Amino acid sequence: MGKKIFSGVQPTGNLHLGNYIGAIKNFVDLQNETGNECIYCVVDLHAITTKQDPKILKANLRETTATFLASGMDPNKSIIFNQSLVPAHSEGSWILGCIARMGWLNRMTQFKEKAGKDKEKASVGLYIYPVLMTADILLYDASHVPVGEDQKQHLELSRDIAQKFNLDFNVPNFLRVPEPLIQKNFSRIMSLKDGSKKMSKSDPSDLSRINLTDTKDEIKNKIKKAKTDKDPLPIDDKNLNQRPEVKNLLGIYSSLSNQSLKDSIDDFRGKNFLNFKEQLADLVVEKIAPISVEIQKLQKENNYIDSILKEGGEKANAIASKKVEEIKKIIGF
Ligand code: TYM
Repeated sequence: MGKKIFSGVQPTGNLHLGNYIGAIKNFVDLQNETGNECIYCVVDLHAITTKQDPKILKANLRETTATFLASGMDPNKSIIFNQSLVPAHSEGSWILGCIARMGWLNRMTQFKEKAGKDKEKASVGLYIYPVLMTADILLYDASHVPVGEDQKQHLELSRDIAQKFNLDFNVPNFLRVPEPLIQKNFSRIMSLKDGSKKMSKSDPSDLSRINLTDTKDEIKNKIKKAKTDKDPLPIDDKNLNQRPEVKNLLGIYSSLSNQSLKDSIDDFRGKNFLNFKEQLADLVVEKIAPISVEIQKLQKENNYIDSILKEGGEKANAIASKKVEEIKKIIGF
């Protein structure tokens, strides 16, 4: 039987190669596997957990949607929509927030990272962010959720909330307990400048990431300047964990060429970085530059983008509003 897939991406601008390899590339592969039902959401309610300029938020929503389409996500095969079009997400989130325990949320490392030292000043929304994420997933009875490694803990929380709801109200299997889908070797793409930090849209250095809107020349330049070390490429994976920058570049190469890390190590064993970087840059250009060109094109077609979201929103609403009504009945409303 096919999988029921749900996943989301925040419209915060600057989607990068980490988002592509950790998430979007898999969204497309899952969409194109026969039998799967896929729902992909631009999570604008999540975006407002940190301060947003309304005009930029709207532009970023369209840019993220354009990135989905440019990467091969097809509105005829998948439901593509933005979260705020479907009221059930907010409603479901409130109800599930009454199931989730403070102790569970207190353990979320992403909140600690994002709130930083001054967590008294973080929004309440940022704290309950993983509950909204849980509502997103559970409202569609998703069986599988493709995400990067950084979302693993949030998915575990979704599973706990689903199980507690089913137990508390004695409705076994009513909320489907979702499985994470995390690519083994490529679920955490690191900064090109520091192999101990994940590639991120909030890194102040643009050289740390490949943006999906970068031009050919920008991509080539960034790969050329990517940090490596003084040794040649490895002959096996023995010491690779001590060489995080090298491991990351080999990981990027492997993911984009759809081959295992071991095969990439074999391809370049013992060679110098000059040649490897040239081939890596060519591969990244081959895969990413066409996406970048298509995003620029779609950015001139706001009406088209808006119509895709609206149509997807109607389909999503039909599913999620029904589920939230069932939830309300179960809890006694
Ligand atoms: P967001 O918008 O931060 O990131 C979108 C997706 O990209 C992955 N990702 C990475 N993967 C590998 N390496 C990286 N350096 C990297 N950076 C980001 C993320 O893991 C994610 O899969 N909370 C989510 C959005 C969300 C969601 C959901 C996801 C909301 N509701 C329901 C799944 C199901 C987020 O902020 O992702």
